[in-house]
Amino acid sequence: MTGQPAKENFTNGLFADELIFHPSSEFKDNANIQDSRIYLDAEENWLEYWNSQASKLSWFKKWDFTLQWEQCFAKWFVGGSLNVSYNCIDRHLNEGRKNKAAIIFEGEPGDSRVLTYQDLYREVTKFANVLKDMGVKKGDRVSLYMPMIPELPIAMLACARIGAVHSIVFGGFAVESLRDRINDAGSKVVVTTDGGYRRGKGLPIKKNVDKALEGNTSVEKVVVVNRTGAEIEMQEGRDLWYHQLMKDAPIGCPAEPMSAEDMLFILYTSGTTGKPKGVVHSSGGYLVGTSSTFNMVFDIKEDDIYWCTADIGWITGHSYVVYGPLANGATTVVFEGAPNYPEKDRFWEVIEKYAVTIMYTAPTAIRAFMKWGDQWPAGRDLSSLRLLGSVGEPINPEAWLWYHKNIGKERCPIVDTWWQTETGQIMVSSLPGINATKPGSASMPLPGLEIDVVDPAGNPVPAGNSGLLVIKRPWPGMLSTVYKDPERYLEQYWSRFENMYFTGDKAVKDKDGYFWMLGRVDDVINVSGHRMSTMEVESALVDHPAVAEAAVIGKSHEIKGQAISAFVTLRDTHTFGDELVKELKAHVATKIGALARPDDIFHTAELPKTRSGKIMRRLLRDIADGKALGDTSTLANPETISGLKENYTE
Ligand code: PRX
Repeated sequence: MTGQPAKENFTNGLFADELIFHPSSEFKDNANIQDSRIYLDAEENWLEYWNSQASKLSWFKKWDFTLQWEQCFAKWFVGGSLNVSYNCIDRHLNEGRKNKAAIIFEGEPGDSRVLTYQDLYREVTKFANVLKDMGVKKGDRVSLYMPMIPELPIAMLACARIGAVHSIVFGGFAVESLRDRINDAGSKVVVTTDGGYRRGKGLPIKKNVDKALEGNTSVEKVVVVNRTGAEIEMQEGRDLWYHQLMKDAPIGCPAEPMSAEDMLFILYTSGTTGKPKGVVHSSGGYLVGTSSTFNMVFDIKEDDIYWCTADIGWITGHSYVVYGPLANGATTVVFEGAPNYPEKDRFWEVIEKYAVTIMYTAPTAIRAFMKWGDQWPAGRDLSSLRLLGSVGEPINPEAWLWYHKNIGKERCPIVDTWWQTETGQIMVSSLPGINATKPGSASMPLPGLEIDVVDPAGNPVPAGNSGLLVIKRPWPGMLSTVYKDPERYLEQYWSRFENMYFTGDKAVKDKDGYFWMLGRVDDVINVSGHRMSTMEVESALVDHPAVAEAAVIGKSHEIKGQAISAFVTLRDTHTFGDELVKELKAHVATKIGALARPDDIFHTAELPKTRSGKIMRRLLRDIADGKALGDTSTLANPETISGLKENYTE
């Protein structure tokens, strides 16, 4: 990349837009997309654009209609039939990729495995036969609760092969979150491991499953992958070892023809209520969305070694560790460990070891690396890298520039990709061979998409003004519904504006059409790129006998982006103190998972509320961020605020 920061003072203003970086001519000349006409062509006929992207996949039967739109429910590629696992594996076997690495696995302890596309075919078809043997049929749900090991993508693809629907639960979720997600999905089978590694310590994966399945459950069988050798109990008749089942399973299993609209997976994500939503993604539209964006945003080439550091338990892992890369016949790295174990250069060690060419990670990780010091990446050979990506939260220009300099060595373009669990695919990002990038801006909507910033009445705001981020036309990777709750789908995404999808984010579009994402406007918080609802954490707190009421907010945090602060009122039976704070933090971690553990818990006699009884989280946020308080005139109990402020600064 060429171009130097024009201004030293880049961190103060939001618009660091004097800083512009252009891709080098070498990168441009070799890029998959070199002609900016792609935007115009896609705009001229966006359905045709998606048709041409869809034609790159392998279909058993071509679709009759590209899009059927019925009162905010979209059906993509209607009448078409395909199989996602076939597209991710089988077709590559005949296209010269049989012996190409599909998955490079790096385990936390340093163990390594490479699975070629042929290996993947063998493992996936065997496990598909295992599932079939257990009575899993098309449309049945299978929950996957596992660390980042190859058996996770194998299980995903085996489900896809026979038309079963997978529902992955991130391994960091605790028992209750796991139980809720298994129950809501009504899963027949759970695939898990005996344990997992986390910075050298063991994770009680199977024990969590045992607890989650206590009482009534739809689950008939639990398949256990032997990962750590941890001591576990195997329940007779229910629990079966993966390796024993696989030993006798035959290789080869026909790929079930699925209608494009058939469900591929459910992924639970936090909304604005205490109950996570089951976001449903279809087979055809989702694969068209993820495979096409993967190809153009990451500029993938046959010999690239691509590494997305996200956990497969989140949407980024679904779309850009597994489906997008494998649909493109790419080599994808699956890394089980943490960035700072055994040392703070583990990521750079992985890049050096496998000569990774494309790296896709999160701003929270980049900020942690900055803090740990430049010496860690400097001590490793990162010369293989040619493109970098960022996802999950706004990247501050300072972190962007650090990434650019210390990891990309001022050579690699950075794609800052904005999207959501619900969008399935990247929506806003630069195309690295075409667009100049501005540190801190996710750049512009990808071809074929119509995205805008509007005022509360739905009218576009002038350039440079902030407003609400909306999507004005359907796109193939979009969620098809909320599992078992179409009303919630309509309410959540389509009720705010007519015929526009409301993202829940606010943003600014600048004079050049570049989007600057400014975070959520609803009760969703983003802690280290992990999405959480304030209400979920509040419910966990009030579940503790000491707590009468709780209000949770996200406060700015140097590394995590946002951290959780909680304000609680207590029952008369309890008194506030360090012990109780500890207990409450642990309680939340046990209920939801360590990722939801509040950083601080404050006691207050009362919570600030409107006269209609709604907690005014905005005021709490201002207090936590040390800001001057905005309008307090709607407050029913203004005196609580001064007490709270004092308490907070103590
Ligand atoms: O607020 C936006 C933020 O993450 C939210 C979506 O979270 P989730 O569904 O967990 O998916 C995260 C990974 C795709 C969005 O509503 N977000 C995601 N990417 C960016 C971002 N904010 C700013 N810049 C991004 N690149």
